[in-house]
Amino acid sequence: MLMADDLKTMTEQEAAAELARLSRILDRANAAYHQEDQPEISDAEYDALKRRNAAIEAHFPELKREDSPTDQVGAAPSGGFQKITHSVRMLSLGNAYDDTDVTEFDTSIRKYLGLAVDAPLPYTAEPKIDGLSLALRYENGTLIHAATRGDGTTGENVTANARTVGDIPDVLGGAPELLEVRGEVYMSHEDFAALNARQSEKGDKTFANPRNAAAGSLRQLDASITASRPLRFFAYAWGSLSSPLAETQMGAIDRLAELGFQTNPLTQVCDGPEEMLAHYRKIEAGRATLGYDIDGVVYKVNDLALQERLGFRSTTPRWAIAHKFPAELAWTRLEGIDIQVGRTGALSPVARLQPVTVGGVVVSNATLHNEDYIAGRDANGAPIRDGKDIRVGDWVQVYRAGDVIPKVADVDLSERPADAVPYVFPERCPECDSPAVREDGDAVRRCTGGLICPAQAVEKLKHFVSRAAFDIEGLGAKQIEQFFEDGWIKEPSEIFTLEERFGSGLQQLKNREGWGEKSAQNLFAAIAEKKRIDFNRLLFGLGIRHLGEAAAKDLARHFDDWAALSGTVDRAATEPAARDPGKAALEASPAWGEFLAIDGVGRTLTQSLIQAFSNAEERVVFDRLIDLLDIVPLEAAATDSPVAGKTVVFTGTLEKMTRAEAKARAEALGAKVSGSVSAKTDLVVAGPGAGSKAKKAADLGIETLDEDGWLALIGG
Ligand code: IVH
Repeated sequence: MLMADDLKTMTEQEAAAELARLSRILDRANAAYHQEDQPEISDAEYDALKRRNAAIEAHFPELKREDSPTDQVGAAPSGGFQKITHSVRMLSLGNAYDDTDVTEFDTSIRKYLGLAVDAPLPYTAEPKIDGLSLALRYENGTLIHAATRGDGTTGENVTANARTVGDIPDVLGGAPELLEVRGEVYMSHEDFAALNARQSEKGDKTFANPRNAAAGSLRQLDASITASRPLRFFAYAWGSLSSPLAETQMGAIDRLAELGFQTNPLTQVCDGPEEMLAHYRKIEAGRATLGYDIDGVVYKVNDLALQERLGFRSTTPRWAIAHKFPAELAWTRLEGIDIQVGRTGALSPVARLQPVTVGGVVVSNATLHNEDYIAGRDANGAPIRDGKDIRVGDWVQVYRAGDVIPKVADVDLSERPADAVPYVFPERCPECDSPAVREDGDAVRRCTGGLICPAQAVEKLKHFVSRAAFDIEGLGAKQIEQFFEDGWIKEPSEIFTLEERFGSGLQQLKNREGWGEKSAQNLFAAIAEKKRIDFNRLLFGLGIRHLGEAAAKDLARHFDDWAALSGTVDRAATEPAARDPGKAALEASPAWGEFLAIDGVGRTLTQSLIQAFSNAEERVVFDRLIDLLDIVPLEAAATDSPVAGKTVVFTGTLEKMTRAEAKARAEALGAKVSGSVSAKTDLVVAGPGAGSKAKKAADLGIETLDEDGWLALIGG
């Protein structure tokens, strides 16, 4: 990223382009953080981008975009939950990064209010909880609904989920007639570790950090899952009120505690910046022993009448600020750069570091992302780190945020050895020496060796036996590496012929380190058991690029068997439209169109399927495997609901639920949901405004219901 200095020399055109770029990156970051609970950049990076955006806007006010990130709080709610419009907007907080920012905060408030420097102006100081905010509406003391922040204006209705949280009372005694309590849902370190242990035992996804675990747990469509997750809640603010809680912030917090809410015990009234900063240091020093994540300290003007006078800027209150803790950083020597080759051939550079402690953890490896990152530029060619490249021998800054993989963030040029040379990213695979190429628009260089590349082959095998795929007991990553090295298993089919080839040679396996007669027999039994495999697990296990767990299910739900899928892929490969990138032409082609009509399947995946199936070497590997398996279609697992096995199309506006929720429910009942009407469609659910799809259904004589009819059919 360019530094603030470049603002002075920036032309209007450059500024407009940079604002567009920042808006794109921040949009993506917002969606990843708020909707997918999978942050892609650190909070510090996010804040830096936002500050840069604001600085450019301040320089070029006329260039401020309509969709400026400055005016956005979070991201719009994701599909799946009903929406709730907040009666009082849920705002975010401005940030302070150092002591000066805090004294300036105090100064600007005094200026705004016309208060003398020595007039008393107390503040509260309290930990900033790293969770997700929640608004709880109580009417006559009864919990009516609970909503996430969403984009600040509209949030998600998570009432059923909130009711399962122990710290959230269902009824309050002595509360104002209308009371909207706001606070943070979070998960303790202990509960987070236990949850992740349970998840990995079950083969379910684990969470990167407690915040993601809390968000993922609260935003479950099935509240019984939330109930099984140990969530907690701290109350620290309020929205609509029928009568005031108190005259001061501290008084209001005490009142919330009396009503039965948990409030943070480290909340304290401070006389001014000096005391605020002292409390900040005390909280920071005790941070590691709190048992839950916090990412700073929030200061609020204590007098509520003054808060009222101070009011708000577009997205933040003038009367409060968040003083952020610095990210965890350390400096060390970069001893080397290793290239790891992944399952899809991606070459990932990994920094080999002189071991260093970062926030209590010893770090000896860190990611360097990709070749552009090492060279000091982003995917669009714009400089990052002021364009400084990273060289072996450099003195580098290592950054670690929570459980995120550590990364090399910066380099100190004054410490660069005289003989350090720019890093040359390999153009051949270090494992198989095949050319490694970068396709247009791909940030990553990939080995083209396919299955002849031992690194790709072994990573593919590891993926094949992983939890969400074949999940063969006793055959994990470690065993795969051993068998691969010995030449006993080189491709998936050889797992299933292992006993036949070595069964009589059981002796050989038994004699190996770590194997006895019993474990060898158990392994063969576990393998035999997985010859019968769910179609979706098989598809996911193949390790085709862009084919994740969800898409594997979507494909398995749509195609009855392997022959139907592979036949359609083969036909798509030969369709004339496959050479024409136009979407309309693809949709109009029978085989391509069939893929694109499947909800959850797009052009990238279809193209990737074609690529995998047309690769002759890969195809024989598939064929040899399929011959040995007994594939269970997805429907077999479905329920006996009236829509099980039926293909349903939703069209027009749904009024009682979102499209995403309708799809999830239909699929849970064993239906396939498709995006287009054809002779294979069993049922069309048409809401107001349904157009050509409803007409086509009528022409084909397909049963059509309205939303109420559908709800009646599936039991409300
Ligand atoms: S006060 C009008 N107090 O931080 C401002 N927020 O970055 C109301 N947060 O959206 C928020 N701990 O989710 C406040 N003690 C605390 C907090 C806190 C965590 C979160 C909250 C807010 C975000 C802003």
